[in-house]
Amino acid sequence: MGILKQGSHTSPSPLLLVHILIFIQIAPLIVKAQTLIPSKYDGFVYKNRPVTTDSIIIEAFLDPVCIDSKDSWPPLKQAIHHYPSGSISLIVHTFPLPYHDNAFVTSRALHIVNSINSSATYDLLDLFFDDQERFYNSQTLNDSRASVVNQVIQVAAKAVGKSNLPAIQSGFRDSETNYATRNSFEYGCSRGVSGAPFFFVNGFVLPDGGLAITYKKWRSIIDPLVGKAKRKGNSFKRLSLKHR
Ligand SMILES: *[C@@H]1O[C@H](CO)[C@@H](O)[C@H](O)[C@H]1NC(C)=O
Ligand SMILES: *[C@@H]1O[C@H](CO)[C@@H](O)[C@H](O)[C@H]1NC(C)=O
Repeated sequence: MGILKQGSHTSPSPLLLVHILIFIQIAPLIVKAQTLIPSKYDGFVYKNRPVTTDSIIIEAFLDPVCIDSKDSWPPLKQAIHHYPSGSISLIVHTFPLPYHDNAFVTSRALHIVNSINSSATYDLLDLFFDDQERFYNSQTLNDSRASVVNQVIQVAAKAVGKSNLPAIQSGFRDSETNYATRNSFEYGCSRGVSGAPFFFVNGFVLPDGGLAITYKKWRSIIDPLVGKAKRKGNSFKRLSLKHR
């Protein structure tokens, strides 16, 4: 549609002109959508392990109410703790799956707690994983949305301290925390994340997204990279990784 007829001297068809006009009208919207860049890199940096380009960077896209994300968490933590701080760092991004009714609200709670006391973010993630069933779709079927939000607020208060209850409540009224949670999701989408858990190592996506990775498997992925990083050369681990 709207393609010029063969021959170099034909003038643009009226239909093409309509398309051009439509494009000119929507172009500012396209540009606007592309400039929603957050002021800092998305995600929660795991406990005292600052991210540098000299360390191996693991990124995990997790959904707090996804069972595979929960199963993937202990072996990943165990693997991270196996290596000295400074050699490896971990960034968790929230990725609320649309078919989990309470994924967004629990993800948003992580963003709220992170803004109150970033050290408590991972305590809250552990609390969500430890008692995950209570926020499953079937468990909250008869609960109003307000009731679910309130239950989530109570769990968040456990992680960050009861004295912060008003701050958590106001966090849920603050549209900024909504945007932060959306932003993580959009960032995941932009990198091709289509499930949880999804992992990236030094920016490369691991195959089998959506499934937990065992401790043994993590070691087999990371060990060769650590050994080579020490020798400071340009080094690679073949794992048929796809770049996104
Ligand atoms: C933040 O959370 C950590 C870990 O839960 C805690 O040790 C620390 O005291 C908290 N900081 C403040 C200012 O409440
Ligand atoms: C939801 O309500 C239905 C109908 O009253 C009941 O049969 C079901 O057990 C309730 N589910 C939960 C999880 O409370």
